[in-house]
Amino acid sequence: MGKITIAIDGYSSTGKSTIAKQLATALGYVYVDTGAMYRAVTHYAIDQGFTDHNVDAPALIAHLPKINLEFVPNPTTGRSDMYLNGKNVEKEIRTMKVSRQVSKVAAITEVREKLVQMQQQMGKDKGVVMDGRDIGTVVFPDAELKLFMTASAETRAARRYKELLGRGEQVTYEEVLKNVRERDRIDSTREVSPLRKAVDAIELDNSDMGLQEQYNRVHGYALRLI
Ligand code: C5P
Repeated sequence: MGKITIAIDGYSSTGKSTIAKQLATALGYVYVDTGAMYRAVTHYAIDQGFTDHNVDAPALIAHLPKINLEFVPNPTTGRSDMYLNGKNVEKEIRTMKVSRQVSKVAAITEVREKLVQMQQQMGKDKGVVMDGRDIGTVVFPDAELKLFMTASAETRAARRYKELLGRGEQVTYEEVLKNVRERDRIDSTREVSPLRKAVDAIELDNSDMGLQEQYNRVHGYALRLI
């Protein structure tokens, strides 16, 4: 069976990672959550006091060589956790505190250069499912299968809100909806690698589509190519 590269891009909270993880497990592929990498760099920036209303880009850029990111398998969950400079930051990076700053950090060219290079290295042998915003356009423009996931902002915010409540975060639905819209705006309008659908990507609007149906479709697309 030949190995391919599967790129899953799309707006925030469209369920990219759920589909990507399932697909990677079924195919025996490596799953890479590139959002976790941008989130980990953001967590570092917050920790260092480089974020406020704006991000102190020059300070963060100067620190980039000191930022070491690693995905480490977690035997309990069967997934990989994000490690930042040797510390498991999986929980911290999923908070609203990080979500509020991450799109600003992800708009910094030098941050993207560092992370894109790491992602290309991780996927160089194919057999990878990678999700993010620029995988099919920048990281792996030659990926054999490209998906672009969308859903209404309200549907996505409702999903995210439920997830955050489940983790014990004190947030309101309105705040989550505002954050989802704000990240969409910054991600789509930034100068470097803006979020957009690759011309050869298959679009999947899952506003009214269940998880099983989405998975069946995507799995079907992959099997045709392998
Ligand atoms: O996927 P997730 O929602 O965790 O990503 C968090 C943020 O990281 C996005 O809103 C976006 O600003 C940034 N990101 C990016 N490029 C990627 C993955 C994520 O700019 N490939």
